[in-house]
Amino acid sequence: MSVAQYDAIAAAYQDSKQLPFRRHVERHTLFEALGDIRGLRVLDLACGEGFYTRLLRIAGAAEVTGVDISGEMIRLAERQERENPLGCRYVCSDAADYRPEGTVDLVVAMYLLHYAGSADKLLRFLTVAHAALRPGGRLVGFNDNVLNPPRGTVSWSKYGIVKTGPAVPTAGAPIRYRLTNADGASFEFDNCYESPETYRRAFGEAGFREFRWLGVSLDPAERGNPFWDDFLANPPVIGFTASR
Ligand SMILES: C[S@@+](CC[C@H](N)C(=O)[O-])C[C@H]1O[C@@H](n2cnc3c(N)ncnc32)[C@H](O)[C@@H]1O
Repeated sequence: MSVAQYDAIAAAYQDSKQLPFRRHVERHTLFEALGDIRGLRVLDLACGEGFYTRLLRIAGAAEVTGVDISGEMIRLAERQERENPLGCRYVCSDAADYRPEGTVDLVVAMYLLHYAGSADKLLRFLTVAHAALRPGGRLVGFNDNVLNPPRGTVSWSKYGIVKTGPAVPTAGAPIRYRLTNADGASFEFDNCYESPETYRRAFGEAGFREFRWLGVSLDPAERGNPFWDDFLANPPVIGFTASR
């Protein structure tokens, strides 16, 4: 898997942030877990084109730095910062090699950890996040739902998602996502499976306490809408939280 696979799909990925599950499940679950972030210093690891970096700043974070390995994603993020300055800062780096200048109150990692590809690199990601946090600070993010990995091809087509994985996922196995945007354009990317036990061990070894999977929760404005029943019964993605 290419380290910069997002260079080729950056614009399509940016469009996918308009899919309804992004707003009503992903974004809602994240901000519900974060609570009040006004005045916090935040590091957004695997920030992509800055979708959450900007929202974190708009929600009142005092400073937000986004880090991503894809030069194209960072270029899109910086372009949006130039067009509509919010004071977000961006760095192009492998999150595993990132050395923050000071400590932060909160690290956000939306879809970083499943790019580790090995238990060693997962531990490096988490060690960087832990070192960046002040004592008591939190790491909150989203991940491929490793509690319920795809066995073969599983479709959530009404949400724009198809996932394909091996019959029996083993460490490092590719999990392929195919997203279809509102305009009908589809694109693919791969992440890597690691077992829930590998995640639990890596969080512990990195020094985190209170690691837990959060599941997903639905925007109250959509509650009672049966459109979401299948997503909530079998979520393809999952949130998590941990504390330093
Ligand atoms: C699914 S996108 C998520 C982007 C953003 N967090 C969001 O939710 O919109 C995953 C991002 O992880 C980045 N990424 C993958 N491996 C990385 C690594 N080792 N270090 C930093 N970023 C990485 C990719 O370039 C991509 O932008």
